[in-house]
Amino acid sequence: MVRTLVIIPTYNERESLPVQVEGVRGHAPDVDILVVDDASPDGTGEWADSVAAVDPRLHVLHRPGKQGLGVAYRAGFAWGLERGYDVLVEMDADGSHQASDLPRLLARTPDADLVIGSRWVPGGSVKNWPKRREMLSTGANTYVRLALGIHVRDATAGFRAYSADILRRLHLDTVESQGYCFQIDMCWHVLQAGGTVVEVPIEFVERAQGQSKMSGAIIREALLKTTAWGFTRRWRQVSGAERRERRASAD
Ligand code: GDD
Ligand code: MN
Repeated sequence: MVRTLVIIPTYNERESLPVQVEGVRGHAPDVDILVVDDASPDGTGEWADSVAAVDPRLHVLHRPGKQGLGVAYRAGFAWGLERGYDVLVEMDADGSHQASDLPRLLARTPDADLVIGSRWVPGGSVKNWPKRREMLSTGANTYVRLALGIHVRDATAGFRAYSADILRRLHLDTVESQGYCFQIDMCWHVLQAGGTVVEVPIEFVERAQGQSKMSGAIIREALLKTTAWGFTRRWRQVSGAERRERRASAD
């Protein structure tokens, strides 16, 4: 029996979270849920606590304040790994990741270390996203592919399933991104560790309630870090090639 934990990070999602939790319950009744709340002022954490009090399959991790998506997920992964879950899922609270797509993601977990719910593979799409956000996402993904030399179409996607094995192999304390850059960071770590990544098409639906926490700081972090990883990769390639040449001429 595979034990699955769906981790939902929240900051001010009081209206959205109940709908998302109900959706997950309906479409994947066997999974456990962990809400990682950063002391949301709107009472999201208190609502989650009230559910956890009567539902042993829903857990809440309270963090002292808004510290970013990456920080929240790292804490959630550590919580899940300590408790022996086999599959750990990332999912937004706001309904953009549809619970009806969850079974299709989980179905692929036996043959991949990371299954990404992808907007940018054939069959994937976004609904109700402003043109500006769509261009940011496609632009960011093109840049990531070029800088890192990878083939993943949606490396910034936040709907994914990891095997516990790959998370253990990664050394999560070396994944330092705070914001949404965490998604790229994790993808890059999995690939560098020799893990397999598959993309499953999803329809991403823009939230109906609440607000996105996307910000200029989040974009800057992703741009700077991706550029730095790209340079490190090139540097390794070049210095590796030089070493090989030196060795060949010495022979
Ligand atoms: N605990 C915690 N702390 N949760 C957070 C934080 C934080 O600092 N910032 C955001 N979240 C939660 C939100 O409450 C929501 O459940 C989820 O993370 C996604 O946040 P949104 O603000 O709705 O993200 P988005 O719709 O703009 O961005 C989506 O697309 C990005 C780019 O593709 C998400 O799917 C991101 O994961 C993705 O990287
Ligand atoms: Mn959202």
